[in-house]
Amino acid sequence: MATRSIFALAAAVAAVQAASDVPTVAIPLVLRYAQGKRVATDIVLPYATIEAVYDLGSPDFIMFEDNSTMNWGCQYLGCQGKCNASVPDTISYNPDLSTTKTDEAPWNGVYGYGGGLTKMYTSDKTINDTFTFSNAVGPTLEVPNVKVALVQYLQQRIYDANGTCSPVPTYSQSILGISPHVENSVTGPSFRQNLLDSGAISAAVQSLWFDKPPSDNITSGEPWIGTGLLGGIDTSKYTGPLVRIQRSFLEYSQDQYYTSAANMTFFGGGGVPGVALPNNYSIELTGVNMTECLIDSGAGSESFFPADEAAWLTATGLRWNPDRTQPGSDLAFPGPCDTIPEDSYFEYSFVGAREGESVTVKIPLRNYHRYQDPLDEQRGWCTVAIYLRGCGLSRTFNTAVYFAADDERFEIAIAQGGISEVGSGVDQDSVVLRIP
Ligand SMILES: *[C@@H]1O[C@H](CO)[C@@H](O)[C@H](O)[C@H]1NC(C)=O
Ligand SMILES: *[C@@H]1O[C@H](CO)[C@@H](O)[C@H](O)[C@H]1NC(C)=O
Ligand SMILES: *[C@@H]1O[C@H](CO)[C@@H](O)[C@H](O)[C@H]1NC(C)=O
Ligand SMILES: *[C@@H]1O[C@H](CO)[C@@H](O)[C@H](O)[C@H]1NC(C)=O
Ligand SMILES: *[C@@H]1O[C@H](CO)[C@@H](O)[C@H](O)[C@H]1NC(C)=O
Ligand SMILES: *[C@@H]1O[C@H](CO)[C@@H](O)[C@H](O)[C@H]1NC(C)=O
Ligand SMILES: *[C@@H]1O[C@H](CO)[C@@H](O)[C@H](O)[C@H]1NC(C)=O
Ligand SMILES: *[C@@H]1O[C@H](CO)[C@@H](O)[C@H](O)[C@H]1NC(C)=O
Repeated sequence: MATRSIFALAAAVAAVQAASDVPTVAIPLVLRYAQGKRVATDIVLPYATIEAVYDLGSPDFIMFEDNSTMNWGCQYLGCQGKCNASVPDTISYNPDLSTTKTDEAPWNGVYGYGGGLTKMYTSDKTINDTFTFSNAVGPTLEVPNVKVALVQYLQQRIYDANGTCSPVPTYSQSILGISPHVENSVTGPSFRQNLLDSGAISAAVQSLWFDKPPSDNITSGEPWIGTGLLGGIDTSKYTGPLVRIQRSFLEYSQDQYYTSAANMTFFGGGGVPGVALPNNYSIELTGVNMTECLIDSGAGSESFFPADEAAWLTATGLRWNPDRTQPGSDLAFPGPCDTIPEDSYFEYSFVGAREGESVTVKIPLRNYHRYQDPLDEQRGWCTVAIYLRGCGLSRTFNTAVYFAADDERFEIAIAQGGISEVGSGVDQDSVVLRIP
């Protein structure tokens, strides 16, 4: 016994030393409380702080250049509308104000986002600069020689219903895409691939997690805090096993992470005013191609497809919004956000990628409420970011579920997250290069 434990100790020390050598880049993450908010990082410039979506759903890094235009008003694909608004300087990169920029180069980039390409950003140049990333709580990070595409024009496919060009629609200030880089891709720049090429990281591996939830005081608007670790996997930020789940291969979309839909169960904790409480309720999913479920931290709403919608609504206590004009506001909890029962949650069970394996993660019902529709607020309801159609694992999924990917090996893995202390960043001694 004694001999064995000495060997075990020696092995553990060796493992720790090896782990510490894994070169990583740790991006501080934040998820704020509002309609347009996504998993994000703040890019801190001397003259502006720009919120960049930390996007598992796209591969390129873009920012607005100063004096850019945001256009909308045409509801068809690829056409210009009659409404223009200036993109504010406070969310734009200004090359004239940078003392550290290098390598400005012409570039014809067109970047499409949103279901049905609702947003099209166009760029005429790339630039290199040193950028500071922050979430205002945990450690900040400075990365030199980052290449970014500067965007001058955004066209949004949004109809101007009353012909007044008002209100001005929202949009992402910057998008830091971290989905897989595809060899010979015509787009870019890819932040991750550039880190790999420069040796700042040593493998096309990444992990993403959020810390413990913010306080239950929903009106304080406290954000979620997390980390996007590029080049490694911090094994101290989840509980239970990290299990490989199936990664679906889609010929036409090799730069995104798709998996199969989970089996879902809702556990009702009680406390919904005026609602008869369900027993634990198994939600059957149906009606979509269940191998095409997109993992996308840059998407606002979770999507799933209950077979029996009425039963699902009864079980969860959620309600259709009487008014559903706002994007993302299909469903609401019929009470103020801070009355959502703390012990209600969804359980997602995924088939493992390896024979006989599976993994189950829990997402508290409270996590889904990061958006308040003004109409819901007036009636004392709380909007939840859930669509009852399609299949998508989005920002709320990331708040509770640890995610890891090894693009070289075409592997993705998940575990129960949301356990680390807020702002604790990375534990370098727990970092490994591959999915264990
Ligand atoms: C933006 O507009 C200002 C004022 O018109 C001008 O001085 C500046 O050069 C413009 N910047 C770019 C990038 O065109
Ligand atoms: C809106 O801005 C675009 C790009 O600058 C320009 O081509 C277009 O003419 C503008 N439209 C209107 C109505 O001003
Ligand atoms: C136009 O309609 C939108 C809702 O579709 C409304 O929020 C806005 O106030 C209207 N604008 C005017 C000027 O009436
Ligand atoms: C600009 O950044 C890219 C990507 O990091 C790098 O490949 C290139 O060498 C950089 N250019 C200069 C002049 O340093
Ligand atoms: C919740 O936060 C709001 C806004 O910061 C504050 O006014 C209120 O006192 C807080 N409530 C509790 C119970 O801490
Ligand atoms: C479902 O998606 C997978 C992966 O793209 C594809 O191979 C399969 O043909 C699709 N099945 C159906 C019924 O469309
Ligand atoms: C619902 O599930 C929870 C967690 O497994 C369990 O503690 C509880 O007893 C179940 N309630 C019913 C009514 O089955
Ligand atoms: C999901 O449900 C189906 C049908 O009940 C079952 O065959 C499968 O094993 C379940 N998968 C997991 C991971 O629980």
